[in-house]
Amino acid sequence: MNKNIKVAHNLFVLFAFGLFLTSCVGGQTGRNNSGQYKNGMVVSAHPEASKVGLDILKKGGNAIDAAVAVQFALAVVYPDAGNIGGGGFLAYRSAKGEISTLDFREKAPGNASRDMYLDAAGNAITEKSIYGHLAAGVPGSVDGMVKAHAKYGKLSWAEVVQPALNLAQNGFSITESQAQEFAAMQKSIKKYNPGKSYFIKDKWTKGELWVQKDLAKTLQLIRDNGRDGFYAGEVADLIVAEMKKGGGLISKEDLKNYQAQWRDPLVGNYKDFKIITMPPPSSGGIALLQLLNSVEAYPLKRYGFNSDSTIQLLVEAERRVYADRATHLGDPDFYKVPQKQLIDPKYSVERMANFNWNKATLSSDIKAGEIIAESEETTHFSIVDRQGNAVAVTTTLNGGYGSMVFVNGAGFLLNNEMDDFSVKPGTPNMFGLLGGEANAIQPGKRMLSSMTPTILEKNGDLFMVVGTPGGSTIITSVFQTILNVIEFDMGMQSAVNAKRFHHQWLPEEVVVEKGGVDSLARLKLENKGYKFRERKAIGRVDAILKTKWGYFEGGADPRGDDTKLGW
Ligand code: DON
Repeated sequence: MNKNIKVAHNLFVLFAFGLFLTSCVGGQTGRNNSGQYKNGMVVSAHPEASKVGLDILKKGGNAIDAAVAVQFALAVVYPDAGNIGGGGFLAYRSAKGEISTLDFREKAPGNASRDMYLDAAGNAITEKSIYGHLAAGVPGSVDGMVKAHAKYGKLSWAEVVQPALNLAQNGFSITESQAQEFAAMQKSIKKYNPGKSYFIKDKWTKGELWVQKDLAKTLQLIRDNGRDGFYAGEVADLIVAEMKKGGGLISKEDLKNYQAQWRDPLVGNYKDFKIITMPPPSSGGIALLQLLNSVEAYPLKRYGFNSDSTIQLLVEAERRVYADRATHLGDPDFYKVPQKQLIDPKYSVERMANFNWNKATLSSDIKAGEIIAESEETTHFSIVDRQGNAVAVTTTLNGGYGSMVFVNGAGFLLNNEMDDFSVKPGTPNMFGLLGGEANAIQPGKRMLSSMTPTILEKNGDLFMVVGTPGGSTIITSVFQTILNVIEFDMGMQSAVNAKRFHHQWLPEEVVVEKGGVDSLARLKLENKGYKFRERKAIGRVDAILKTKWGYFEGGADPRGDDTKLGW
């Protein structure tokens, strides 16, 4: 061989070998032609937060490191639901199959009382549980992140908090939908934050840089002092001062005593799949297992996606499950939830026995009020790392921007999670949900939630990571997304894109996304007594599927700015 050709040949072999090595150890070559990734993935509600999570994974952090970083990043870039002043739930499955769930749900303050939202005549003043200082529960997010990181994190605490701090300090470009939303909510922000300047600005433009100095200071204290950076010292003082100013109840004692809690995950089966999900104080896990148990015996694949039979069957299952939710579910530390009975497959089969294909079952006569909030202002993110550890986190302030109250000087919003309690039996909350004794207000109790972060296994291996915001519709959106993949053979993105519908026992209506049911199916169901109401969007699912080839396929909900990033 001529010398030059030989050198070129050797160089080529070296280059090809280099490429092969890079693809083995990672680099940017984890992507295949279908847009699936080998080395890890983050799907969240905001492009900046997904980027933070991906950077942490690339740096050698695991899924928990990335989850903590994304939680804090969302508190900066997605103030409608991302938070340090709220709470949430985390579901975890390690690559080896260890599972756990973390409850960092808010708690009622020590001075809360059962009738705190009733007037002298005993009528519910629902505005008070939804807006302003009295609506806030004791925040759980910071302690939750501290506990998750302490148990499973690999990088240092400072390394996972720093990216959020950078975003607050240096600013980030707001998206188009944020520009519109921030402008639209100025009236409420002004109303609940008199005399403050934070976040008050009438004109917002897509792409403008938003810097949050007060929040940066708070994040710095959290970075340097861990849980004490939030639950003690300067930030605790600012929270309590804010409460005093606006008639709220959260005290220094409440903050000092708050503890997130590891709970035994709820585990069930659907066909070949194992479902790992959130136990109470979320109603989501129990309700999801009940729904899956209710429909398992029916040939959904044959009925087809969103056919009249599928819709009817799912609606009847949902009607029964949400009726149970209203009566039986509450904080297990305060109320004995009949968990074992509810998730027993036989129980759901019996509940479905009186369902009649010829006509709609009638929900009872209890009067349910209007559902006043249709925002999707909780947020969910799903993460998998290179080893195959998986995390699902759903976190919230409850309504969009929570109580609307900013803690003066600390730059973050407080939740309005107290509205998730049943303020009075028979009075619906902002999602139209009813409740009673099980979910009555008590000091230190956690309010019932619908948040359903969930992980699925197939044949002992990771299969799916899934969750969504959407208040009462969370459970049905997770349920339908799972069925879209398992029964209707959709890929992850199509399963997330697919139109959803929802029934919650009361009000007596099937809520459906525009275009979600074809007119013939709708007519058939209306003739059987089903009432439909259209709604723009239901849920905002962010999920990841592990394909049989071992790649991760993301589903980022197009209903929002949700972004999937992998490597
Ligand atoms: O925990 C719950 O169920 C509610 N606080 C969730 C609120 C929510 O998803 C808001 N988005 N629509």
